Amino acid sequence: MQNIIVTGGAGFIGSNFVHHVIAERPDWHVTVLDKLTYAGNRANLEGLPADRLTFVHGDIADAEVVDSLVAKANAVVHYAAESHNDNSLQNPRPFIDTNLTGTYTLLEAVRRHDVRFHHISTDEVYGDLQLDDPARFTEHTPYNPSSPYSSTKAGSDLLVRAWVRSFGVRATISNCSNNYGPYQHIEKFIPRQITNVLSGIRPKLYGAGLNVRDWIHTNDHSSAVLKVLEEGRIGETYLIGADGEQNNKTVVELILELMGKDPHDYDHVNDRPGHDLRYAIDSTKLRTELGWQPKFTDFRTGLADTIAWYSEHESWWTAQKAAVEAQYAKAGQ
Ligand SMILES: NC(=O)c1ccc[n+]([C@@H]2O[C@H](COP(=O)([O-])OP(=O)(O)OC[C@H]3O[C@@H](n4cnc5c(N)ncnc54)[C@H](O)[C@@H]3O)[C@@H](O)[C@H]2O)c1
Repeated sequence: MQNIIVTGGAGFIGSNFVHHVIAERPDWHVTVLDKLTYAGNRANLEGLPADRLTFVHGDIADAEVVDSLVAKANAVVHYAAESHNDNSLQNPRPFIDTNLTGTYTLLEAVRRHDVRFHHISTDEVYGDLQLDDPARFTEHTPYNPSSPYSSTKAGSDLLVRAWVRSFGVRATISNCSNNYGPYQHIEKFIPRQITNVLSGIRPKLYGAGLNVRDWIHTNDHSSAVLKVLEEGRIGETYLIGADGEQNNKTVVELILELMGKDPHDYDHVNDRPGHDLRYAIDSTKLRTELGWQPKFTDFRTGLADTIAWYSEHESWWTAQKAAVEAQYAKAGQ
């Protein structure tokens, strides 16, 4: 596997994966296919060796562009998506176009050229768990998505499964829990709160803040995806998680504490409609079958590193800050 396409490689998790692959697989060449939506940023790929990375500005729903790239590749790792739940509640259309039609377009190309495909998905396809439920999601949990975002991701997973079964496409799927780390768009929960503090704005917590997310450092997500790409069984789904359950209130208070502020100096704002209560991943299959282990499991240290990254990269996010906050203000958030 030497020539891989990474769709959405200028986004948060995709760009972290590109950095990981370039460092870990010295003989691989990466082609990033990215539309550069508001969430994509070429700066995320700065500093990588030009002879090992090709950037193509294009849409995964553009069959011609996709076909010409896939014809020359050994594998496609598919990260590109509309990824923000709140946006999907305002305007679901781009979620249909990218997450469903875009995935369909890629599947048709890998089918034509018999190219290995790995599909990146989310634990949000499973809906949510009650706060007092001891259960965690497994590969056998029924799909029950709540939002236009998670339902289009669920639909894309099912397309992949059908293309494996009906057309023999060589694909795997991974569903990961919530990622944090560098290069995450500041519309998302953790970077929004960090950049609020850095901008002199009080952090904002949806509702009572008791919703639980199962946090994983994006570097651990990258190592898990590489493992599944190289060693995963075709047609299988692997859940990726690092046992990082935290409620949102704890996370906001920890951010404030780590930034030297009063941990209670934040505002409660309107909750997200249909806000999922709790996600929790059981990643036993990935750990036992493929021998993967997360490395960045100390959340406090990971969060401190992430705070340091946003503090040191103000020019990466300051231009977007006012517009992001104006958008949230419209929803009372
Ligand atoms: N963020 C999380 O915590 C999380 C957790 C599990 C799974 N995922 C999945 O990981 C993937 C990446 O998420 P992210 O948080 O990095 O998202 P992101 O929004 O930061 O990045 C998405 C990238 O895809 C690109 N893109 C969007 N539409 C495109 C199109 N039509 N054609 C080509 N490129 C397009 C964007 O320009 C951007 O670079 C998504 O599939 C998401 O569902 C995310």
